[in-house]
Amino acid sequence: MKVVFHVMAFLVPYSSCLLFLVILPQPFPATAESYKKITLGLSLTASNNDSWQSPSGEFAFGFQQVAVDGFLLAIWFDKIPEKTILWSANRNNLVQRGDKVKLMKDGQLVLNDRKGKQIWRADTAGSRVAYAAMLDSGNFVLARHDSVNLWESFREPTDTLLPTQTFSQGSKLVAGYSSMNRSTGRYQFTLQSDGNLVLYTLAFPIGSVNSPYWSSKTEGNGFLLSFNQSGNIYLAAKNGRMLVMLSSDPPPTSDFYHRAILEYDGVFRHYVYPKSMNPGAAGWPLRWSPLTSSFIPPNICTSIRENNGCGACGFNSYCSLGNDQKPKCSCPPGYTFLDPNDVMKGCKQNFVSQNCEEASQETELFYLEQKENTDWPLSDSEHFSTVTEEWCRKACLSDCFCAVAIFRDGNCWKKKIPLSNGRFDPSVGGRALIKIRQDNSTLNPADDDVPKNKSRSTIIIIGSLLVISSVSLNFLFILRAFLDVLQFGYEKTKKRYLEPTDPGVTLRSFTFSELEKATGNFEEELGSGAFATVYKGTLDFDERTFVAVKNLDKMVRDCEKEFKAEVNAIGRTNHKNLVKLLGFCNEGEHRLLVYELIRNGNLANFLFGNPRLNWFKRMQIAFGVARGLFYLHEECSTQIIHCDIKPQNILLDESFRAIISDFGIAKLLKADQTRTSTAIRGTKGYLAPEWFKNLPVTVKVDVYSFGILLLELICCRKNFEPEVKNEDQMVLAYWAYDCYRDGKAGLLVANDDDAVLDMKRVVKFVMIAIWCIQEDPSLRPTMKKVTLMLEGTVEVSAPPDPSSFISSIESF
Ligand SMILES: *[C@@H]1O[C@H](CO)[C@@H](O)[C@H](O)[C@H]1NC(C)=O
Ligand SMILES: *[C@@H]1O[C@H](CO)[C@@H](O)[C@H](O)[C@H]1NC(C)=O
Ligand SMILES: *[C@@H]1O[C@H](CO)[C@@H](O)[C@H](O)[C@H]1NC(C)=O
Ligand SMILES: *[C@@H]1O[C@H](CO)[C@@H](O)[C@H](O)[C@H]1NC(C)=O
Ligand SMILES: *[C@@H]1O[C@H](CO)[C@@H](O)[C@H](O)[C@H]1NC(C)=O
Repeated sequence: MKVVFHVMAFLVPYSSCLLFLVILPQPFPATAESYKKITLGLSLTASNNDSWQSPSGEFAFGFQQVAVDGFLLAIWFDKIPEKTILWSANRNNLVQRGDKVKLMKDGQLVLNDRKGKQIWRADTAGSRVAYAAMLDSGNFVLARHDSVNLWESFREPTDTLLPTQTFSQGSKLVAGYSSMNRSTGRYQFTLQSDGNLVLYTLAFPIGSVNSPYWSSKTEGNGFLLSFNQSGNIYLAAKNGRMLVMLSSDPPPTSDFYHRAILEYDGVFRHYVYPKSMNPGAAGWPLRWSPLTSSFIPPNICTSIRENNGCGACGFNSYCSLGNDQKPKCSCPPGYTFLDPNDVMKGCKQNFVSQNCEEASQETELFYLEQKENTDWPLSDSEHFSTVTEEWCRKACLSDCFCAVAIFRDGNCWKKKIPLSNGRFDPSVGGRALIKIRQDNSTLNPADDDVPKNKSRSTIIIIGSLLVISSVSLNFLFILRAFLDVLQFGYEKTKKRYLEPTDPGVTLRSFTFSELEKATGNFEEELGSGAFATVYKGTLDFDERTFVAVKNLDKMVRDCEKEFKAEVNAIGRTNHKNLVKLLGFCNEGEHRLLVYELIRNGNLANFLFGNPRLNWFKRMQIAFGVARGLFYLHEECSTQIIHCDIKPQNILLDESFRAIISDFGIAKLLKADQTRTSTAIRGTKGYLAPEWFKNLPVTVKVDVYSFGILLLELICCRKNFEPEVKNEDQMVLAYWAYDCYRDGKAGLLVANDDDAVLDMKRVVKFVMIAIWCIQEDPSLRPTMKKVTLMLEGTVEVSAPPDPSSFISSIESF
């Protein structure tokens, strides 16, 4: 009963009698779809909320204000609060308040500005229009008195397709410029007359096409792209045969709004939004959720590779897929965005580049920051094979034209500015060596509060942090956390002595020389982290009491506030799943903490190493960590948010009891306090989404990290495993949800006989973990509830897809 009579005919494969309808010449025959006639002479004004609605009220045609004084003549989803635009007439030529679109007496639909200049008009090829109508399909039409459509918005799409809309040879979608700006951008989606469905980059701002970055490879066959009434999107041949399925298994169009859009980032995506009144849509978030299997291309970062243009991100930047599968542009270390509000403008060096005249003398003023799996494949200046990394490093440092060197499998490529087509992806391999000037800060100039003359030590510390941390650690996170600490350090002038901690806390205060003695002059290092190094020691009064002495690094030693917080908070805790603080040293510039020594090392060694812990020990560890966190959140006198739950911070004693350590970065929050600091603490991969979104940080960030940890405990693997062959398994959180949804949780514990025999519990634990990693913090259970669920006291209900909530993670 819809306008798409011809489409439906098309969908009956091999039905030749109906087939001819498909190739009927335009104009299309009208159908019995209900509509309200918009009669000749009517007009709409940009400013009031006038619009022409479809009979169901689901779609509207009219003006939307998209800039300070800029109005777009558009069609939008009128029943959802976002009023999402799906078509527009004047994306590159916004009109002003008071301008009008009018269905003239002669049947022309014309958008004029107030001076009477014509901005846009619907081309009806001179045929006589009798009325216009906004249809319930989202199609706006101009029709003849016999209801034959002379013009349809469906035949002149902007960047969006709707169900029942067809896309024939010669049709195209052009992406918007950015998420906020709908003017024509950098990408185009076309069904070419040769039968190929193709994605192109455009030579912005001219709009001529460069080279394709994706193609359906259906040359000679592709005839029509169909978005059918069920929400399936596919490319079909002339005889109706399906050639390529772009989006399958969509939720029903009766319960969901659907739209497919070529987005500003160059990816074609299919989104759905629940029609709130319909019970079938229950459980879906009230927002547009992308159907991730529909993304074309699946990884835009690695798909674009062309000599002209910058790639999927701006010059001197690199592209990586975020957890939400959306591309994210970042600057390499030593570089910052030219315009943080428009990352596509690329990045600039934060330092003066190497002086070529004195290159030999300047060589030692530069160092190389390394970043794995990163490349700028088309910016080569030179290539050398069968060399060592050492050779490659020296070659780049002594070459003033070399901005970056890539070392991979005995090959060394020198890269020149501007770097283009940058990507960070596990498939890239190799290592990028990014050249940075030493005596110049890599700090973002925007962070003016940072004392400038600390820049040298800053670089050194950041450099060593990067070495310590895993590759996936984002440089910026560390930088931010570090800057924050730095800032604290300068808040007060240095006091030579910190007062002992709260009364009631029985901690021993050590002198520095006592601890020097206890550790044999800091001989045996147990480990080092972002801000501290830990040494083994014995207390002199008892040879058998082994301790771990944590020496806070120089920069942090200045930071009285953090030290006090740590000592007070830890000193008051007392729980079998938390590491015990025995004492501290606070003498001059020395800041040390003395803990009981936990013998067995940390969980990471046992979880990802070989042999691995058996299922029952892993379960016990999950209980232990959950109880410890529950205590920190709800049972100790001052609520403590750990902020950095990960296997490296879970220690194990001889009986593999889990003991949470490293409250070093825990932020003390009073019970009802929200985010107190903008610093991002914690480790990427375990970080809750709210860290990136400027949302209040609550105890639920630990619940999130615990969820990831729990999945790792179940599966004995890291959340992010770039090496796995199957891309779907790279991120454990996604793979686990997929397995759970498909009823195949067994895949997660394959080869683990104990776990396989305890499948019911495995599934339950996976469900609990999925609850913990919901994007919406309020959906995550409290640690108390987690503990009860793990122990079986409380039933676990079916969790929603955590990723369906994930929205784009902004770069800083
Ligand atoms: C238009 O609608 C918005 C939201 O519905 C309302 O806030 C605004 O006052 C309306 N403007 C006019 C001119 O009616
Ligand atoms: C959108 O971006 C284009 C291209 O950069 C620019 O010319 C235009 O002014 C922008 N429009 C708005 C409303 O910001
Ligand atoms: C839409 O296409 C899919 C896949 O070809 C098919 O299964 C479904 O029946 C079609 N729906 C309609 C309403 O034609
Ligand atoms: C690096 O040094 C140059 C010259 O000394 C200066 O112009 C530039 O602003 C410095 N960059 C930063 C980030 O401090
Ligand atoms: C820079 O650091 C030195 C000591 O390293 C200090 O004396 C000086 O006051 C600092 N300058 C500023 C502007 O902070």
